[in-house]
Amino acid sequence: MERNLNFEEKRIREFFGPELIRRSQNFVQKFHKLMAYYRCAMMEIETKFNVLNEEFSLRYDRNPINGMKTRLKSMESIRAKLEKKGLPLSVDSVEKNLCDVAGVRVVCSFPEDVYMLADALLSQDDITLVTKKDYIQNPKSNGYRSLHLIVTVPIFLAKEKKVMKVEIQLRTIAMDFWASLEHQLRYKKDFDFSESMIQELKTCADLSAELDVRMDRIRASVQPEDEKASGDT
Ligand code: GTP
Ligand code: MG
Repeated sequence: MERNLNFEEKRIREFFGPELIRRSQNFVQKFHKLMAYYRCAMMEIETKFNVLNEEFSLRYDRNPINGMKTRLKSMESIRAKLEKKGLPLSVDSVEKNLCDVAGVRVVCSFPEDVYMLADALLSQDDITLVTKKDYIQNPKSNGYRSLHLIVTVPIFLAKEKKVMKVEIQLRTIAMDFWASLEHQLRYKKDFDFSESMIQELKTCADLSAELDVRMDRIRASVQPEDEKASGDT
């Protein structure tokens, strides 16, 4: 018989319903545990970026990271994505097929911080790169810019080590400003945008990219020596 379920497990059982739960033994507990593992993986990644931010600010007296957000994909979005892709609705399928259950967004000060942080993270020996999409070098046709990484990171539990996938989005404040507002306006909504509205949004994205270039020029004159080339503190 099932042990007493806690609040979160009851929510999972109610959401997925009796049919699925009958099909897969211990579905509720397994799903709950998987979500906890993804939360741990996000914490690992968040800590790694905090450490890099700390080190950089000690060395150069400025923070490359302006802010960070983590998010766990909701049960609703997990189910919707599996159904849309025609994939089985099971705990194993979530782990195998979805790369964005755990998400970390790193908002950086300047474009070069995006690449410096990505390179520093990827050079760590417990991090494996799964995919990289550089929407800064190659912006999406709507003007969206960000560097997307899917990585794996191990989490160390009392009796086992689990390797988990995490989606990381790195972008500047200007890119985040545009993406956040554009998301509110149109991402995945059914409203039919006219050609001129699409063009206007794209113009706004290009303007915010121009802001990044101009702010970076100011940074370079305030801090002329190449940060990467300068020696130890
Ligand atoms: P999803 O199925 O949405 O996860 O997208 P994907 O598998 O094609 O991956 P991609 O790396 O292109 O996008 C992943 C995430 O980046 C999205 O879930 C959004 O958070 C963000 N993103 C991608 N394109 C856009 C965009 O045009 N506008 C905004 N605001 N965000 C975007
Ligand atoms: Mg996604």
